Amino acid sequence: MKAFYISLKPFLNHGQLLRPTPWQDVFANNNPLEVEIGFGNGEYLARISQDNPGTNFVGFEQYCERIHRTLRKLSRTGLDNVRVLRLDARAGLERYFNQKTITRIHCLYPPPWPKKSDAKHRLFTTDFLRLINSRLADGGFLKIVTDHEPYIDWIRDNNTDTGFSIEFKVIKANYGTKFEKKWVDEGRCEFYELVLTKTGHIPIGLKEDSLLQTYLLDDFDPDLFSFKEYSHEGIAVSFKEILYDPKKKVALVHVIACDGPLMQNIRIVIAHSALGWRVNLAEGSMLMPTMAVAKALECVYQAAKKD
Ligand SMILES: C[S@@+](CC[C@H](N)C(=O)[O-])C[C@H]1O[C@@H](n2cnc3c(N)ncnc32)[C@H](O)[C@@H]1O
Repeated sequence: MKAFYISLKPFLNHGQLLRPTPWQDVFANNNPLEVEIGFGNGEYLARISQDNPGTNFVGFEQYCERIHRTLRKLSRTGLDNVRVLRLDARAGLERYFNQKTITRIHCLYPPPWPKKSDAKHRLFTTDFLRLINSRLADGGFLKIVTDHEPYIDWIRDNNTDTGFSIEFKVIKANYGTKFEKKWVDEGRCEFYELVLTKTGHIPIGLKEDSLLQTYLLDDFDPDLFSFKEYSHEGIAVSFKEILYDPKKKVALVHVIACDGPLMQNIRIVIAHSALGWRVNLAEGSMLMPTMAVAKALECVYQAAKKD
C-alpha cells in the first residue's frame, strides 16, 4: 500500500504546542524564522525553504486538503526547516510568537473579498498590521501579493500607526502558486506586490490562554437540554447538536466558539461519574483555550443545569 504522506513531522498540532512556542527547540537551531500566511498547496513554501536551508519557516493554512498537498511537497524536499499549522494566522501570531522574533512574513494572494459587504473578512486590518509589526524583528518585512488592485488601496488606507513604511510594485507572475497559475491561465499578466518594512516597534504582548473549568451537575436530563446562544464583545458561542448515549450515560455537545475571527469547533462531554455529571472538553480536542472556549463550557453547563 502506498503511504499517504512520507512524513507528518512538519505538521504541528497547535493544541499541543507551547504558547509561546520555543521555535529554536522545535527546529533544534537558532536560525532566522520566516512565516507564510495562507500557503495553499505549498508551492512557495516548499520552494523558499529549499532555497534557504539556513532559515526556518512556519506556515499557517486553514484547509486540510491544502495542508495534505503541502506535506507531500515538503516530504520530497527532504529538509527539516518547515513546520505547518492548521490555524488562523491571527491567532497563531497572537499566541505562538514572542515579539521581534520573525524576520519576514509572506502572504501570496490572500482572499480579497471583493464585495464591499464582505470587506470585514479581509485579513490585513490596521489591528492585524500592528500585530504583525510587533512580531517582526527590527528591519523585518511583510510581503503581500495580490491580483486585486483595490485590495492594495485598502491595505494602504489601513497602514496608519502600524510602524511600517510601504512600497508598491506592479509585477509579473513569478511565484508559481496554484492561484497565480489559475489567473495566468485566465489571461492575467499583472499582479501587485506590497512590501511593508518595519520602521518602528509596536509593542503587543502575547494573548494569554483562558482557564478552562470543569463543571459538575447533580443531575442531567438530555431532553431538558436548552442552549442559549451567546454573543458579546467579539466572543460568540453557538450550538450545533447534542448526541446522547443512554447506555453509557454520556452526551456529546458540538458548539462553535468564536473569539473575533478565530472560530473553533468544540466537542463538550457531559458524562456520568461517581460525583455527578461532569461537563468537560472531549479528550483529544485540538483547540486553543480561549475566552470563547471557557464561555462555551459555561453555556453547556447552563444548558444542562436543571433550574
Ligand atoms: C487564494 S488562496 C492562496 C493560496 C496560495 N498562497 C496560492 O497563492 O496559491 C488563500 C489561502 O489563504 C488561506 N487563508 C486565508 N485566511 C487565512 C488566515 N487567516 N490564516 C491562515 N490561512 C488563511 C486560505 O485558506 C487559502 O488557502
